[in-house]
Amino acid sequence: MIDIAKLTELAIAYDAGDARRVQHFLKVHAFCRLIAQREGLDAHTQNTLEAAAVLHDIGIHEAERKHGSSAGPWQEAEGPAVAAPLLAQVGADPAASERILWLIAHHHTYAASEDTDFRILLEADFLVNAYEDGLAREACQTADERLFRTRTGRALLQALYLAPPYQP
Ligand SMILES: [Fe+2]
Repeated sequence: MIDIAKLTELAIAYDAGDARRVQHFLKVHAFCRLIAQREGLDAHTQNTLEAAAVLHDIGIHEAERKHGSSAGPWQEAEGPAVAAPLLAQVGADPAASERILWLIAHHHTYAASEDTDFRILLEADFLVNAYEDGLAREACQTADERLFRTRTGRALLQALYLAPPYQP
């Protein structure tokens, strides 16, 4: 099993000086873990998903450096090469690494797969991006219909963005 705390520290060190990115992946990891636990993923799948959540955006700095853009396709292209040595440092086995790199390389390609771990990563990333990007209610409604698959992810989307807005 991958030591998620150790991997998180490595990812924080890699993203040093960029608090926004660190906060982003910590939140995506927390949502992934919660959804995976509630959806009953086996321990191994949950572990690889958590590692992918920590590393899903690790290609952004390279994408910005090489291509002047953090657009999805550049992140997907650059992420695996940055993630691989970090996974080696935590002793990830080849099969787990392969799955994690695939998840990183496809996390902006919504139609890539219907596998539950992949759908959970997409849902968790959306739950965080919707807040960070101030997404409109209609966009969240559309995501509920088209993007979300899990009961837990949908319940979170509902509670955070589709329930009547809190007013003190
Ligand atoms: Fe993300």
